[in-house]
Amino acid sequence: METFVITGGSSLKGEISIQGAKNVALKIIVCSLLTDDELIIHDIPLLSDVQCMLDVLAGLGVKYKHSGHTLSLRNTGITNVTVPLDVGARLRTSSMVVGPLLARYGKAVIPNPGGCRLGSRPIDRHIDALQQMGAAIEYDPQDGYFHLTAKKLTGTTIVFPKNTHTGTETLLLAAVLATGTTVLKNAAEEVEVDDLILLLNNMGAQIKRTASREITIHGVDSLHGATHTVMPDRNEEVTFAVAAAITRGSITVHKSQRNSLRYFTDAYRKTGAHIRAIDETTTEYSFSGTPIPVDIQTMPHPGFMTDWQAPWAVFMTQAAGVSHIHETVFESRFAYVEELRKMGADLTFFEPHVHHPETYYNFNWADRIPDSFQGLTIHGPTKLHNAILTMHDLRAGATLVLAALIAQGQSIIHGIEQIDRGYERIEDRLRSLGASIARKKEEV
Ligand code: EPU
Repeated sequence: METFVITGGSSLKGEISIQGAKNVALKIIVCSLLTDDELIIHDIPLLSDVQCMLDVLAGLGVKYKHSGHTLSLRNTGITNVTVPLDVGARLRTSSMVVGPLLARYGKAVIPNPGGCRLGSRPIDRHIDALQQMGAAIEYDPQDGYFHLTAKKLTGTTIVFPKNTHTGTETLLLAAVLATGTTVLKNAAEEVEVDDLILLLNNMGAQIKRTASREITIHGVDSLHGATHTVMPDRNEEVTFAVAAAITRGSITVHKSQRNSLRYFTDAYRKTGAHIRAIDETTTEYSFSGTPIPVDIQTMPHPGFMTDWQAPWAVFMTQAAGVSHIHETVFESRFAYVEELRKMGADLTFFEPHVHHPETYYNFNWADRIPDSFQGLTIHGPTKLHNAILTMHDLRAGATLVLAALIAQGQSIIHGIEQIDRGYERIEDRLRSLGASIARKKEEV
């Protein structure tokens, strides 16, 4: 086990290039099941989640080869249609192999998926939609697996009851080789979905966004190989933008996606922080002075993404006054609060007044954790101090690193395997900007 040792107080300055997006890379790896040809993928981030996904695909029969950030994948013949239970519990996207396996091999066995444990995270919307395409699905509580079979998946019109990012992508991966036309209504609008569509179309699929929340897929008989470059990771850009602001520094981001971060950049500017567009894909984030408090509410894209609220909370601990966060996508995404309190942050939960929570919230209201809250009040500004901390999930992990960067004294952070899931060697990159951060072997 490893820890981060971080001494706060440095102002971060310099240039950084954004890595390929984890939440695209994981799905692109699944595309290798859709063809017997080679896929060559550039800008693959070297992350533990990506390796875990490669292990899943290797277990099914896909061969892969890494050369730095380039990955080549080839399906040389499927030998197995079952995703191991332990991997399913670790990585939510492992269930996405279901579409290609059903479309090409007629069966799939997938565990109830996991990923960062942000509440219960069921896949009922995926399962219902696959059933509408003709899949027969049985959940066996004895073995914890969904057993799916389909003679042929058939296109139909699917209306997602609520937004689902990976649900939309799972259905795309099922529909590309289905018979006939599938129309996904209330489909996710995340730009990461569009990057997946770009690759699938380059492989010969016929997919079109026919309205902002509608995707039409004409099934084809087969797909071929392609080369693709993974889009840059928007969550990483937000992390560096917040790092620049809270350390009163200035970070120039290359491979910037600022145009897909509108709700974030609007809120960032309202705090008094600066954003300078240097060119189409280069953005400078900087700040000096005391931030103005800004309330945010998380929403599916194009809103303020749920992945950004935890770093935002650290930012708001530095603002002069009171701010609020209302989390509407997940029923449990405040695991960082206890940890920030250890550093002196003044955070209190509240229950926002919502008329129809069953429809208002993106998660299933029935999955709500009793006595949990969807709102957080932050009183600032607070001088954070050092602490011994533990990361509970990926974005909460990045949040604790940010907090430690501005805390007085030396903090030690455990559980850093969480951040390795989504940020490649974050400590080296922060050090290149002037941070005092080291990865140490945990003493036993
Ligand atoms: N949900 C259900 N049933 C379903 C599908 C979703 O109840 O069948 C609930 C979820 O539990 C959640 C909400 O609906 O409360 C939204 O779920 P969605 O399917 O949109 O999210 P996701 O696909 O599980 C992806 C990203 C998340 C990101 C969200 C929002 C991946 C691998 N994960 O999750 O990223 O926060 O979309 O954009 O793409 C991260 O990178 O740290 C991360 C958690």
